[in-house]
Amino acid sequence: MLNQNTPILHIDHLQKNFGKFHALKNITFDIYPGEVFGFIGPNGAGKSTTIRTILGILRATGGRATIFGKDVFKDAVEIHKRIAYVPGDVYLWPNLTGGEIIDLFLKLGHSRHTEKTDQLIKLFQLDPTKKARTYSKGNRQKVALIAAFSTNADFYIFDEPTSGLDPLNEEVFQKEVLKLKQAGKAVLLSSHILSEVEKMCDNIGIIRNGEIVETGSLAQMRHLTRTTIKVQTRDQTPELSAMTGVHNVSFDNNNQILTMSVDSEHLESIMSYLTQKQIVSLQATLPTLEDLFLRYYDSSNGGTNNEQ
Ligand SMILES: Nc1ncnc2c1ncn2[C@@H]1O[C@H](COP(=O)(O)OP(=O)(O)O)[C@@H](O)[C@H]1O
Ligand SMILES: [Mg+2]
Repeated sequence: MLNQNTPILHIDHLQKNFGKFHALKNITFDIYPGEVFGFIGPNGAGKSTTIRTILGILRATGGRATIFGKDVFKDAVEIHKRIAYVPGDVYLWPNLTGGEIIDLFLKLGHSRHTEKTDQLIKLFQLDPTKKARTYSKGNRQKVALIAAFSTNADFYIFDEPTSGLDPLNEEVFQKEVLKLKQAGKAVLLSSHILSEVEKMCDNIGIIRNGEIVETGSLAQMRHLTRTTIKVQTRDQTPELSAMTGVHNVSFDNNNQILTMSVDSEHLESIMSYLTQKQIVSLQATLPTLEDLFLRYYDSSNGGTNNEQ
């Protein structure tokens, strides 16, 4: 059994240079057993570099990282026996079938093909008899995901695992991650889309230009997430702009369609208000990572957004 109070992954001021380029300037965070950690940041922020460093594929320029209390570079072989990893760009042997590659991955990871493997192949709707060269990006990801989820590891690392998956497969992925969490495993999940990790993660770390700019629970970061709502109602909505959680109210040219940003935690009360005003049309857009960053930088600069 894993000790709940000892971090599975400990990263302390990690730095990585490629020549003169500082890809990682200052990365610090921990992941504990039973925790799903969302590692989010735009393309080029340093997510994959961090992951490749903690896997011991790259050697850190500065700082320190341990997994299971062991040095990620020196003790890589030992550490790898207890982790499962799915890279962002999955490479497969083109002339082997998906099924053969799953078994090969399992064998290389000292695991075995079990009933669970067959279940996963069905759930992800993968045809394991096709040669890998015929697979789309999504199918290649599925092969690696099936092998990872059939492995009994203590720490699972997924680098943008759902970027090629359709919504149904994404749901399968989310369910499997929650099962790992319930089993007390630790999960690192990187993504450039906040809404993708939001449902699963206990804590998130936001990385930008090689630095962690914010870490915490999603609840702590709720103030950063807002949904944009465009709505048209039959009745007037004079109280709306004064309601808690409503920001940046504006109208289109005809005064027909109202646009506003709504704090996620106040969505419910605002929706029930709107319902009483007879909704004609409504469109909700989830906050993107870019929105979140803009807000983060605006507020940390004492900026221009209308925080109350
Ligand atoms: N092997 C490398 N040599 C030089 N630069 C690299 C190398 N790998 C990554 N980089 C650079 O480091 C930065 C971070 O890349 P990466 O970690 O892949 O970002 P992310 O995974 O967040 O999209 C990018 O500017 C990228 O071009
Ligand atoms: Mg990447």
